[in-house]
Amino acid sequence: MIEIDNVTKEYPSPEGLRLRILDSITANIPLGSQLGVVGRSGSGKTTLLSMLAGLERPNSGTIRFNGFPVSTAGEAELSRFRAREVGFVYQTFQLLKHLSAVENVQVAAEIAGHSKSRSAAQEALEWVGLSTRLKHRPDQLSGGEQQRVAIARAIVNRPKLLLCDEPTGNLDPQSADQVFRLISSLSMEISATLFFVTHDYALAHQLPGRIELERGQLSRLQLSGGALS
Ligand SMILES: Nc1ncnc2c1ncn2[C@@H]1O[C@H](COP(=O)(O)OP(=O)(O)OP(=O)(O)O)[C@@H](O)[C@H]1O
Ligand SMILES: [Mg+2]
Repeated sequence: MIEIDNVTKEYPSPEGLRLRILDSITANIPLGSQLGVVGRSGSGKTTLLSMLAGLERPNSGTIRFNGFPVSTAGEAELSRFRAREVGFVYQTFQLLKHLSAVENVQVAAEIAGHSKSRSAAQEALEWVGLSTRLKHRPDQLSGGEQQRVAIARAIVNRPKLLLCDEPTGNLDPQSADQVFRLISSLSMEISATLFFVTHDYALAHQLPGRIELERGQLSRLQLSGGALS
């Protein structure tokens, strides 16, 4: 279970005001859920993902992931949690540009302490249909292919939590569709809990569950299907 208990997040504005970005969010989300996360720009979607990964801490309230106290754990524990249990996919791919596709994925496996990082990276790139692009650098790949490398990197350690922040936002419709299908099918295969942020409501509706944020509040939480416990 992911237990989000009364979480509030405020950021100071440059004018010295305290802006409440997330306001008393409470949700119990079964592991293995697949959730589309929607809401207007500025509603707090990226902030919520950052808190789930322990990259940001709430001002009040707690977050637990499968019993692990994400919101209060120390930095070393959080680094290990992120390396082993969390996969990220961003709108802007965030690949290391001097490394090949397979090296980009391998780095994530090494950080998590994988003993056979090279073969794990190759296998992950096969899952996303890029076994013929192992040695290409990011600038030798199309946008859709770069995002598929990023997906391989995100899942190489079979994370329990897959956080995708507008992963289709920079892609043409065909690549966007392919990336969406890969993320939803692979997350199901590895039984990861998926948070998929998108401005595309049609995509979000293809996932079994949905979170809607409105001015920092949870205006809708629908959990169904895809849940393991
Ligand atoms: N580090 C920060 N310091 C101050 N304010 C911040 C910080 N990060 C985010 N905010 C503010 O928090 C609000 C929510 O930001 P967030 O990035 O979570 O929105 P979002 O829903 O992901 O929007 P978008 O759809 O545009 O990506 C915004 O108004 C933003 O200005
Ligand atoms: Mg955002």
